[in-house]
Amino acid sequence: MLRKEMLLLLTGLTLAISTTAQRIHTKFDADWKFKQGHAADPSRDFNYGIRNIFSKSGDASGTCIMPDYDDSNWETVQLPHDWAVGLPFQYIKDNDLDGHGYKAIGGLFPENSIGWYRKTFDVNKADSGHRYVVRLDGVYRDSKVWINGYYLGGNFSGYTSTSYDITDFIRFNKKNVLTVRADATQNEGWFYEGAGIYRHVWLDILNNVHIANEGGVFVRTAVKGNTAIVNVATAVVNKHIHTANATVYTVITDRSGQILAQSKEQPLSMAVNEEKTVTQELKISKPELWSPESPYLYRAIAIIKADGQIIDSEKVRFGVRTITIDKNKGLFVNGIPVKVKGVCCHQDHAGMGCALPNHLQYYRISLLKEMGANAYRTSHNPPTPELLDACDSLGMLVMDEPRLLNSGTEYENQFRQLILRDRNHPSIFIWSIGNEEFATQYTNIGTRIAQRQVLLQQQLDPDRTSTYAANQGNHFTGVNEVIPVRGFNYNLHGIDGYHRDHPSQPVIGTEVASTVTTRSIYIKDTVKGYVPDYDSTYPSWASTAEQWWKLASDREWFMGGFAWTGFDYRGEPTPYSWPNINSHFGIMDMCGFPKNVYYYYQSWWSGKDVLHIAPHWNWQGKDGQPVLVWVNTNADNVELFLNGKSLGKKDMPRNGHLRWTVNYAPGMLEAVAYKGSKKITAQVSTTGNASRIILTPSKTTLLHDGDDAVVVNVSVADEQGREVPDAGNNIRFVLDGDASIIGVGNGDPSSHEPDKCAPGAWQRNLFGGKAQVIIRAGRGQGKVSLKASGEGLQAAVLSL
Ligand code: GAL
Repeated sequence: MLRKEMLLLLTGLTLAISTTAQRIHTKFDADWKFKQGHAADPSRDFNYGIRNIFSKSGDASGTCIMPDYDDSNWETVQLPHDWAVGLPFQYIKDNDLDGHGYKAIGGLFPENSIGWYRKTFDVNKADSGHRYVVRLDGVYRDSKVWINGYYLGGNFSGYTSTSYDITDFIRFNKKNVLTVRADATQNEGWFYEGAGIYRHVWLDILNNVHIANEGGVFVRTAVKGNTAIVNVATAVVNKHIHTANATVYTVITDRSGQILAQSKEQPLSMAVNEEKTVTQELKISKPELWSPESPYLYRAIAIIKADGQIIDSEKVRFGVRTITIDKNKGLFVNGIPVKVKGVCCHQDHAGMGCALPNHLQYYRISLLKEMGANAYRTSHNPPTPELLDACDSLGMLVMDEPRLLNSGTEYENQFRQLILRDRNHPSIFIWSIGNEEFATQYTNIGTRIAQRQVLLQQQLDPDRTSTYAANQGNHFTGVNEVIPVRGFNYNLHGIDGYHRDHPSQPVIGTEVASTVTTRSIYIKDTVKGYVPDYDSTYPSWASTAEQWWKLASDREWFMGGFAWTGFDYRGEPTPYSWPNINSHFGIMDMCGFPKNVYYYYQSWWSGKDVLHIAPHWNWQGKDGQPVLVWVNTNADNVELFLNGKSLGKKDMPRNGHLRWTVNYAPGMLEAVAYKGSKKITAQVSTTGNASRIILTPSKTTLLHDGDDAVVVNVSVADEQGREVPDAGNNIRFVLDGDASIIGVGNGDPSSHEPDKCAPGAWQRNLFGGKAQVIIRAGRGQGKVSLKASGEGLQAAVLSL
């Protein structure tokens, strides 16, 4: 099986770069066996804890760690996999369950908090002599990993990658079993975090002389006039049992693979286990610069040769761009001022929990770009690498952040790994060293920790700087004394005074807004836990979108900020608790459907013409009653009409919105706006009942790689084809072809419907007229069709 994958991959790589056939980098996601263990009862945890599994090397007898253990009755799962999202919702008062979205996981649920995974694979004797390295990009959490009964190591973090060299333990021509135990008993954050191997696993097959793992190729760029100077540092390691000689050279190509520069071959001699770094300087004349608007990516290929043969190579995408942060003028990308129009985000999505197919990363970043956002904060943990790939490709600046602020061995390593793994991404413009460390941030321990972490960052990545997300208002003591860029979480009122008193510290809004809204709901509902979808409700520490953005855009020295949050996420159901299971902070909901506040940001952040009316106009039974109407636009003025009758014309305040109170009558509410001499119109109409289903896919072709995915948005229309904005119909889904439905959602923060349904029983109610289905490709070719049906509705069929 492995051999087949190798050959397939070899062909793929040969096509991409004909010279790099030696390194085989393959996804190791398919067909894992999964079963839940038990955190409090070793006999239900496959005897983990009652057998002496750490007393003799390779002997974990009596547990499920040994390769001959019979796992045939375990569930077969494809990675990425999050078992928490499939657990029931559970209400218990007064504990941290609400933060994690009321999923029955953690210390109170030992039967749900341990997951065991086993992956069986073969390696042919003919393939011995290579090195085999497994990399797990994210296991939530406290993972322990064995191969064929041999313990490889563990990772305390639920968010960092770990690599294990498994070469010595491979059984050639016999089955091999990689076993992972994930323990999600203890939370790391105060938000939904998932459980299990929720990111990709990779297998690298390498020569004994190869480029070092994480951070082995480090690309730095500088622009001098019309030329980009590209410095590529390649770390090579010798795992032979004897001294080895090799040469190292670097090739730079444009994005179509055209070679632009090539270095000389530099000879290396390495003792056993020795690692040596070679730095080579190359030039690109008239480089295309990377920017959010034009995210051009070059490739640097570090190549290792021995005896005239290529034995390893690694390709890194990089961008040429300059980042400058000025204490008086904010951020400059390539010398051009850029206001940070950012959002903070967690990593989960409707239907998926934290286990997102790569397509979802691109989908979510595209939605944010469409809104006009240019920056993303990975709050509050290291992201999956594919998120950063999406930001590089689509042009989204990133603030990259470790889980917490601590310079002790564990967390210093986490921060080190984060920087080594991510520093080649052109999208990253700044590091955050942590977020709101209440116990630490005011103290001199905080000062010392921060100083250590900033120094580490500067050592590993001298071309960037750091900030810290401080909810400390104008306080300067503690972390803020040593942080190069002062980050404000909320508390913006005294910011002018801070800038006056500390003029040498640039200032950024690391976290702002936290406005709470429920998509499509315009009347507060404390029973269901819904907040009106106007930019008007926020917790005590927070503000409206309009308040922070006006403040940011009026101050040149204020770099801009990151609104909390781009999307709703599971957990933190502010301002209500149960039955809410997810937050209301999103500018978009859990599915990525825009809320009203989205159009505020889009008006002032994107270059598009925006004119949007809220709410919808289906208020049956409320004739004559006042309805609060918000219009978001970037036009100069707006005149509102109800059924053709003017309700008055108003000038649009810059960075503001407009309101009317309109006595309801069914029909059409129309806004007519002028931007200069350009006329723009928008309408909302009273619709009839839903009569047919509409399916809108994010794309219409799927790669048959077992990993590609498509997001299908579901809505309903009345007989005249108008979308029904308050529909709540139940929709059932049936899929034909080699693909599977992997999740459903609807953005309702109080829905307790399952995101994962039994095979053949996929369904979801619409919320505010919308739902979402996510489909993952299989490995076979051919058509896939999704049929959506509902009582009294004309069904819809989508072909992919
Ligand atoms: C901040 C915190 C975030 C989130 C937010 C909600 O204080 O950093 O993680 O909890 O509040 O408003």
